[in-house]
Amino acid sequence: MTTILQTDGLTKRFGGLVAVDNLDLRIERGEIAGLIGPNGSGKTTAFNLITGFLKPDTGHIEYNGHSITGESPYEIASRGLGRTFQRTKPFGKLTVLENMLVPITKGLTGEAKETRAREILDELDLTPVIGNRGEDLSGGQKKLLEIARVLMLDPDLIMLDEPSAGVNPVLMDDILDNIKRLNETGRTIILIEHDMTVIEGLSDRVIVMHNGRKITSGTFEEVQQNSLVRDAYLGGQQ
Ligand SMILES: Nc1ncnc2c1ncn2[C@@H]1O[C@H](COP(=O)(O)OP(=O)(O)O)[C@@H](O)[C@H]1O
Ligand SMILES: [Mg+2]
Repeated sequence: MTTILQTDGLTKRFGGLVAVDNLDLRIERGEIAGLIGPNGSGKTTAFNLITGFLKPDTGHIEYNGHSITGESPYEIASRGLGRTFQRTKPFGKLTVLENMLVPITKGLTGEAKETRAREILDELDLTPVIGNRGEDLSGGQKKLLEIARVLMLDPDLIMLDEPSAGVNPVLMDDILDNIKRLNETGRTIILIEHDMTVIEGLSDRVIVMHNGRKITSGTFEEVQQNSLVRDAYLGGQQ
C-alpha cells in the first residue's frame, strides 16, 4: 500500500480554542477512510486545512508525495484532491449542467468539457434534472450534484463532508452506491459522516477525532469497542 495523503502535527486554533490539535493522518491509496467524532471535534476544520480553505498554524500536509502546505484551494484541487462541503452550495440560478461547467478544469474546455459534464451527470443519474436550477433540487440531488462537480476535476482523492445530511433514504442508497463505485474505479475516499450505518457499510478503516485530536483508528468493530471512543461520544454533545 502507498500513502496518498499524510498530515504531520496539523494544528489550527481559533482564538483560545484548538480546533485541530497536532493531527497525524495517513491515508492509503485506494481505501475508504471514515472520519468520525462528536460534533465540534474538528473534522470539518481538518478538511478545510487539507484542502487549503484554512491555513494551519503549524504542521505539514503531503499529497501524492508533494508538500501542499499553504497552497490555495485551486492549486490543491488541480492536483486531484477534490472535496464536497457539509452545507451544499450549488449556484441556485444556474442549471445543473451550467453548475457542472463552473469548475476550472485544466486542459478541458468548450465542447469537450460539456461532453464530460454530461457523462458524469449520466453516471450519477442526474440526466433527468439536467435543465433544472440548482435551487430547485432536493437535498439529495444537491449532494449528488456536488459529487458530480468534484468529478469534473478527475480527482484521485475525494473528501466527502457528511454526504448523508439532509438526504432522503432512497437517494441515500444512490449516493452510497456511487461512493462505492467511485472507490472501485480507483479513487481514494475520506468520508466524514455521523450516520454509523453508513460508516460501517463503507469504511475500510475508521479514524476517530475528539477535541481536535485523533484518539484512535481501526476497523469499525475495533473503534466501536474502544473505551476512549465510547467516552468521547457519551461525554460529547451528540
Ligand atoms: N471559523 C471558525 N471560527 C471559530 N471557531 C470555529 C470555526 N470553525 C470551526 N470552529 C470551531 O472549531 C471546532 C471544530 O469545529 P468543526 O471542525 O466544524 O467540527 P466538526 O466538523 O467535527 O463538527 C468547534 O468548536 C467549532 O465551533
Ligand atoms: Mg463538520
